[in-house]
Amino acid sequence: MIKSLGVLGCGNMASALVKGIWNQKKELSVSCFTPSKTRAELLAKDVQGKVLDSLAELPSHDVWMIGCKPQQFEELAKEIKGKLSPDSIVISIMAGIPTSKIADRLSIEKVVRVMPNTPTLVGEGISLLYMSKSLDQEEAKQIKSMMDASSSVYEFSDEEMIDKLSGFTASGPAYVFEWTRIFANKAMDYGVEEQMAYQMAKELLFGSSKMMMDSPHSPEDLREQVTSKKGITYEALKIFEKDGLEKMTFSAIEAAYKRAKELAE
Ligand SMILES: NC(=O)c1ccc[n+]([C@@H]2O[C@H](COP(=O)([O-])OP(=O)(O)OC[C@H]3O[C@@H](n4cnc5c(N)ncnc54)[C@H](OP(=O)(O)O)[C@@H]3O)[C@@H](O)[C@H]2O)c1
Repeated sequence: MIKSLGVLGCGNMASALVKGIWNQKKELSVSCFTPSKTRAELLAKDVQGKVLDSLAELPSHDVWMIGCKPQQFEELAKEIKGKLSPDSIVISIMAGIPTSKIADRLSIEKVVRVMPNTPTLVGEGISLLYMSKSLDQEEAKQIKSMMDASSSVYEFSDEEMIDKLSGFTASGPAYVFEWTRIFANKAMDYGVEEQMAYQMAKELLFGSSKMMMDSPHSPEDLREQVTSKKGITYEALKIFEKDGLEKMTFSAIEAAYKRAKELAE
Protein backbone atom coordinates (compact mmCIF):
# COMPACT_ATOMS: atom_id res chain seq x y z
CA MET A 1 0.00 0.00 0.00
CA ILE A 2 1.39 3.42 -0.94
CA LYS A 3 1.41 5.49 2.24
CA SER A 4 3.96 8.22 1.62
CA LEU A 5 5.16 10.48 -1.16
CA GLY A 6 8.23 12.70 -1.43
CA VAL A 7 8.11 15.53 -3.96
CA LEU A 8 11.42 16.83 -5.30
CA GLY A 9 10.63 20.01 -7.22
CA CYS A 10 7.19 21.37 -6.35
CA GLY A 11 6.53 23.63 -9.33
CA ASN A 12 3.23 24.22 -11.09
CA MET A 13 2.81 20.75 -12.54
CA ALA A 14 4.00 18.59 -9.65
CA SER A 15 1.97 20.69 -7.18
CA ALA A 16 -1.20 20.35 -9.29
CA LEU A 17 -0.77 16.57 -9.52
CA VAL A 18 0.04 16.12 -5.85
CA LYS A 19 -2.91 18.26 -4.74
CA GLY A 20 -5.23 16.19 -6.96
CA ILE A 21 -3.82 12.95 -5.55
CA TRP A 22 -3.94 14.12 -1.92
CA ASN A 23 -7.54 15.36 -2.23
CA GLN A 24 -8.53 11.77 -2.99
CA LYS A 25 -6.04 10.12 -0.61
CA LYS A 26 -5.85 12.32 2.45
CA GLU A 27 -4.09 9.59 4.42
CA LEU A 28 -1.00 10.05 2.20
CA SER A 29 1.94 11.56 4.08
CA VAL A 30 3.82 14.03 1.85
CA SER A 31 7.31 15.61 2.06
CA CYS A 32 8.17 18.52 -0.21
CA PHE A 33 11.49 19.94 -1.40
CA THR A 34 12.48 22.86 -3.61
CA PRO A 35 15.85 24.66 -3.48
CA SER A 36 14.22 28.02 -2.69
CA LYS A 37 11.79 26.43 -0.18
CA THR A 38 8.92 28.83 -1.03
CA ARG A 39 6.98 26.49 -3.32
CA ALA A 40 7.67 23.48 -1.11
CA GLU A 41 6.08 25.42 1.76
CA LEU A 42 3.05 26.30 -0.36
CA LEU A 43 2.46 22.70 -1.40
CA ALA A 44 3.12 21.34 2.09
CA LYS A 45 0.47 23.72 3.46
CA ASP A 46 -2.09 22.49 0.91
CA VAL A 47 -1.50 18.80 1.59
CA GLN A 48 -0.72 18.94 5.31
CA GLY A 49 2.80 17.80 4.44
CA LYS A 50 6.33 18.47 5.69
CA VAL A 51 9.04 20.61 4.12
CA LEU A 52 12.47 19.07 3.64
CA ASP A 53 15.13 21.67 4.47
CA SER A 54 17.81 19.94 2.42
CA LEU A 55 18.58 16.77 0.49
CA ALA A 56 21.40 15.78 2.84
CA GLU A 57 19.27 13.08 4.42
CA LEU A 58 16.06 11.82 2.90
CA PRO A 59 13.21 10.26 4.84
CA SER A 60 11.97 6.88 3.70
CA HIS A 61 9.04 7.15 1.25
CA ASP A 62 7.18 4.57 -0.85
CA VAL A 63 7.05 6.89 -3.85
CA TRP A 64 9.10 9.91 -4.97
CA MET A 65 7.94 12.39 -7.58
CA ILE A 66 10.55 14.34 -9.55
CA GLY A 67 9.03 17.64 -10.65
CA CYS A 68 12.04 19.74 -11.64
CA LYS A 69 12.90 20.74 -15.23
CA PRO A 70 14.76 18.17 -17.37
CA GLN A 71 17.80 20.49 -17.38
CA GLN A 72 17.86 20.46 -13.53
CA PHE A 73 17.76 16.66 -13.23
CA GLU A 74 21.52 15.91 -13.34
CA GLU A 75 22.14 18.31 -10.45
CA LEU A 76 19.30 16.78 -8.41
CA ALA A 77 20.42 13.23 -9.26
CA LYS A 78 23.96 13.93 -7.99
CA GLU A 79 22.52 15.06 -4.66
CA ILE A 80 20.16 12.14 -4.10
CA LYS A 81 21.93 9.19 -5.72
CA GLY A 82 22.16 6.31 -3.25
CA LYS A 83 19.79 8.00 -0.78
CA LEU A 84 16.53 6.47 -2.05
CA SER A 85 15.64 2.99 -0.95
CA PRO A 86 16.37 0.67 -3.93
CA ASP A 87 12.79 -0.52 -3.68
CA SER A 88 11.14 2.93 -3.90
CA ILE A 89 9.12 3.96 -6.93
CA VAL A 90 10.13 7.17 -8.71
CA ILE A 91 7.55 9.05 -10.77
CA SER A 92 9.12 11.52 -13.18
CA ILE A 93 7.09 14.26 -14.83
CA MET A 94 10.13 15.59 -16.72
CA ALA A 95 9.76 15.89 -20.48
CA GLY A 96 12.07 13.72 -22.53
CA ILE A 97 14.22 11.98 -19.87
CA PRO A 98 13.81 8.20 -20.31
CA THR A 99 13.18 5.79 -17.45
CA SER A 100 16.51 4.03 -18.19
CA LYS A 101 18.46 7.24 -17.53
CA ILE A 102 16.52 8.01 -14.34
CA ALA A 103 17.06 4.46 -13.06
CA ASP A 104 20.77 4.67 -13.85
CA ARG A 105 21.34 8.10 -12.26
CA LEU A 106 19.42 7.23 -9.09
CA SER A 107 20.45 3.58 -8.71
CA ILE A 108 16.86 2.38 -8.56
CA GLU A 109 14.73 0.20 -10.84
CA LYS A 110 11.10 1.18 -10.51
CA VAL A 111 10.52 4.27 -12.62
CA VAL A 112 7.23 5.70 -13.87
CA ARG A 113 6.84 8.51 -16.38
CA VAL A 114 3.84 10.81 -16.19
CA MET A 115 3.33 13.60 -18.70
CA PRO A 116 0.59 15.91 -17.42
CA ASN A 117 -0.74 19.12 -18.94
CA THR A 118 -1.60 22.50 -17.42
CA PRO A 119 -5.41 22.03 -17.34
CA THR A 120 -4.52 19.72 -14.41
CA LEU A 121 -4.29 23.01 -12.47
CA VAL A 122 -8.07 23.41 -12.86
CA GLY A 123 -8.96 19.74 -12.46
CA GLU A 124 -9.38 19.12 -16.22
CA GLY A 125 -5.97 17.72 -17.10
CA ILE A 126 -4.86 14.69 -19.01
CA SER A 127 -1.72 12.70 -18.28
CA LEU A 128 0.22 10.18 -20.32
CA LEU A 129 1.52 7.27 -18.24
CA TYR A 130 4.28 4.71 -18.74
CA MET A 131 5.48 2.31 -16.04
CA SER A 132 8.72 0.38 -16.29
CA LYS A 133 8.37 -3.39 -16.24
CA SER A 134 10.11 -3.64 -12.85
CA LEU A 135 6.95 -2.56 -11.00
CA ASP A 136 4.93 -5.56 -9.90
CA GLN A 137 1.22 -5.83 -10.71
CA GLU A 138 0.04 -4.52 -7.35
CA GLU A 139 2.43 -1.53 -7.45
CA ALA A 140 1.32 -0.72 -11.02
CA LYS A 141 -2.33 -0.87 -9.94
CA GLN A 142 -1.72 1.48 -7.02
CA ILE A 143 0.27 3.99 -9.09
CA LYS A 144 -2.44 4.01 -11.76
CA SER A 145 -5.13 4.62 -9.13
CA MET A 146 -3.02 7.38 -7.56
CA MET A 147 -2.59 9.15 -10.90
CA ASP A 148 -6.27 8.68 -11.78
CA ALA A 149 -7.01 10.95 -8.81
CA SER A 150 -5.12 13.81 -10.45
CA SER A 151 -6.24 13.81 -14.10
CA SER A 152 -7.56 11.61 -16.93
CA VAL A 153 -4.83 9.05 -17.43
CA TYR A 154 -3.85 7.42 -20.74
CA GLU A 155 -1.44 4.53 -20.20
CA PHE A 156 1.02 3.23 -22.81
CA SER A 157 3.18 0.12 -22.70
CA ASP A 158 5.68 1.66 -25.17
CA GLU A 159 7.68 4.46 -23.53
CA GLU A 160 8.36 6.08 -26.90
CA MET A 161 4.67 7.04 -27.07
CA ILE A 162 5.17 9.41 -24.12
CA ASP A 163 7.71 11.42 -26.15
CA LYS A 164 5.69 11.19 -29.35
CA LEU A 165 2.46 12.37 -27.70
CA SER A 166 3.93 15.04 -25.40
CA GLY A 167 3.84 17.54 -28.26
CA PHE A 168 0.11 16.81 -28.54
CA THR A 169 -1.27 16.54 -24.99
CA ALA A 170 1.33 18.34 -22.83
CA SER A 171 2.14 21.15 -25.29
CA GLY A 172 -1.41 21.18 -26.70
CA PRO A 173 -2.81 23.75 -24.26
CA ALA A 174 -0.23 26.24 -25.56
CA TYR A 175 -1.52 25.73 -29.12
CA VAL A 176 -5.10 26.29 -27.94
CA PHE A 177 -4.09 29.45 -26.03
CA GLU A 178 -2.22 30.70 -29.09
CA TRP A 179 -5.24 30.10 -31.31
CA THR A 180 -7.40 31.98 -28.79
CA ARG A 181 -4.99 34.92 -28.94
CA ILE A 182 -5.09 34.90 -32.75
CA PHE A 183 -8.91 34.91 -32.85
CA ALA A 184 -9.01 37.79 -30.35
CA ASN A 185 -6.39 39.67 -32.34
CA LYS A 186 -8.47 39.48 -35.50
CA ALA A 187 -11.57 40.73 -33.65
CA MET A 188 -9.45 43.65 -32.34
CA ASP A 189 -8.32 44.28 -35.92
CA TYR A 190 -12.00 44.75 -36.74
CA GLY A 191 -12.34 47.23 -33.86
CA VAL A 192 -13.59 45.05 -30.98
CA GLU A 193 -12.28 46.21 -27.59
CA GLU A 194 -9.55 43.92 -26.14
CA GLN A 195 -11.40 42.46 -23.13
CA MET A 196 -14.47 41.69 -25.19
CA ALA A 197 -12.34 40.16 -27.96
CA TYR A 198 -10.63 37.79 -25.50
CA GLN A 199 -13.92 36.88 -23.82
CA MET A 200 -15.46 36.05 -27.22
CA ALA A 201 -12.48 33.91 -28.20
CA LYS A 202 -12.42 32.03 -24.87
CA GLU A 203 -16.15 31.33 -25.00
CA LEU A 204 -15.80 30.11 -28.58
CA LEU A 205 -13.21 27.50 -27.54
CA PHE A 206 -14.99 26.60 -24.32
CA GLY A 207 -18.41 26.20 -25.99
CA SER A 208 -17.01 24.19 -28.89
CA SER A 209 -15.09 21.90 -26.49
CA LYS A 210 -18.19 21.37 -24.36
CA MET A 211 -20.19 20.53 -27.47
CA MET A 212 -17.58 17.96 -28.55
CA MET A 213 -17.53 16.41 -25.08
CA ASP A 214 -21.32 16.23 -24.81
CA SER A 215 -22.14 15.21 -28.38
CA PRO A 216 -22.17 11.62 -29.70
CA HIS A 217 -20.96 12.99 -33.06
CA SER A 218 -17.34 13.08 -34.23
CA PRO A 219 -15.49 16.42 -34.58
CA GLU A 220 -15.72 15.94 -38.38
CA ASP A 221 -19.52 15.55 -38.18
CA LEU A 222 -19.83 18.60 -35.94
CA ARG A 223 -17.66 20.57 -38.37
CA GLU A 224 -19.89 19.52 -41.26
CA GLN A 225 -22.97 20.70 -39.30
CA VAL A 226 -21.47 24.22 -39.29
CA THR A 227 -20.36 24.08 -42.91
CA SER A 228 -23.07 24.63 -45.48
CA LYS A 229 -21.94 24.06 -49.04
CA LYS A 230 -20.68 27.36 -50.51
CA GLY A 231 -21.44 29.15 -47.20
CA ILE A 232 -19.08 31.35 -45.19
CA THR A 233 -17.49 28.57 -43.09
CA TYR A 234 -16.92 26.58 -46.27
CA GLU A 235 -14.88 29.49 -47.65
CA ALA A 236 -12.89 29.79 -44.41
CA LEU A 237 -12.10 26.04 -44.21
CA LYS A 238 -10.86 26.09 -47.80
CA ILE A 239 -8.11 28.46 -46.61
CA PHE A 240 -7.11 26.04 -43.83
CA GLU A 241 -6.83 23.30 -46.41
CA LYS A 242 -4.96 25.40 -48.99
CA ASP A 243 -2.49 26.78 -46.43
CA GLY A 244 -1.93 23.39 -44.79
CA LEU A 245 -3.27 23.69 -41.22
CA GLU A 246 -3.07 19.89 -40.78
CA LYS A 247 0.48 19.68 -42.12
CA MET A 248 1.57 22.58 -39.89
CA THR A 249 0.01 20.95 -36.82
CA PHE A 250 1.69 17.60 -37.58
CA SER A 251 5.04 19.40 -38.01
CA ALA A 252 4.60 21.18 -34.66
CA ILE A 253 3.94 17.88 -32.85
CA GLU A 254 6.93 16.27 -34.59
CA ALA A 255 9.19 19.23 -33.63
CA ALA A 256 8.17 18.76 -29.99
CA TYR A 257 9.02 15.02 -30.25
CA LYS A 258 12.45 15.88 -31.68
CA ARG A 259 13.06 18.27 -28.76
CA ALA A 260 11.99 15.58 -26.26
CA LYS A 261 14.69 13.30 -27.74
CA GLU A 262 17.28 16.10 -27.43
CA LEU A 263 16.36 16.60 -23.76
CA ALA A 264 17.01 12.90 -23.17
CA GLU A 265 20.70 13.25 -24.16
N1 LIG B 1 4.42 23.03 -17.84
C1 LIG B 1 3.84 22.06 -18.53
O1 LIG B 1 2.87 22.23 -19.26
C2 LIG B 1 4.37 20.65 -18.39
C3 LIG B 1 3.65 19.59 -18.93
C4 LIG B 1 4.13 18.30 -18.76
C5 LIG B 1 5.32 18.09 -18.08
N2 LIG B 1 6.01 19.15 -17.61
C6 LIG B 1 7.26 18.90 -16.90
O2 LIG B 1 7.07 19.28 -15.55
C7 LIG B 1 8.32 19.66 -15.01
C8 LIG B 1 8.13 20.92 -14.20
O3 LIG B 1 7.55 21.92 -15.00
P1 LIG B 1 6.83 23.17 -14.30
O4 LIG B 1 6.18 23.92 -15.40
O5 LIG B 1 6.02 22.70 -13.15
O6 LIG B 1 8.14 23.96 -13.79
P2 LIG B 1 8.34 24.93 -12.56
O7 LIG B 1 7.02 25.50 -12.12
O8 LIG B 1 9.45 25.85 -12.92
O9 LIG B 1 8.84 23.96 -11.40
C9 LIG B 1 10.14 23.43 -11.32
C10 LIG B 1 10.42 23.15 -9.84
O10 LIG B 1 11.66 22.44 -9.76
C11 LIG B 1 12.39 22.96 -8.66
N3 LIG B 1 13.83 22.69 -8.81
C12 LIG B 1 14.76 23.36 -9.51
N4 LIG B 1 15.96 22.78 -9.38
C13 LIG B 1 15.79 21.73 -8.54
C14 LIG B 1 16.65 20.74 -7.99
N5 LIG B 1 17.96 20.71 -8.28
N6 LIG B 1 16.13 19.84 -7.15
C15 LIG B 1 14.81 19.83 -6.86
N7 LIG B 1 13.94 20.73 -7.35
C16 LIG B 1 14.42 21.66 -8.18
C17 LIG B 1 12.08 24.45 -8.66
O11 LIG B 1 12.36 24.97 -7.39
P3 LIG B 1 12.25 26.54 -7.02
O12 LIG B 1 10.78 26.77 -6.78
O13 LIG B 1 13.08 26.65 -5.81
O14 LIG B 1 12.78 27.28 -8.20
C18 LIG B 1 10.58 24.43 -8.98
O15 LIG B 1 9.80 24.29 -7.81
C19 LIG B 1 9.31 19.81 -16.15
O16 LIG B 1 10.21 18.74 -16.10
C20 LIG B 1 8.45 19.71 -17.40
O17 LIG B 1 9.13 19.01 -18.43
C21 LIG B 1 5.55 20.42 -17.70
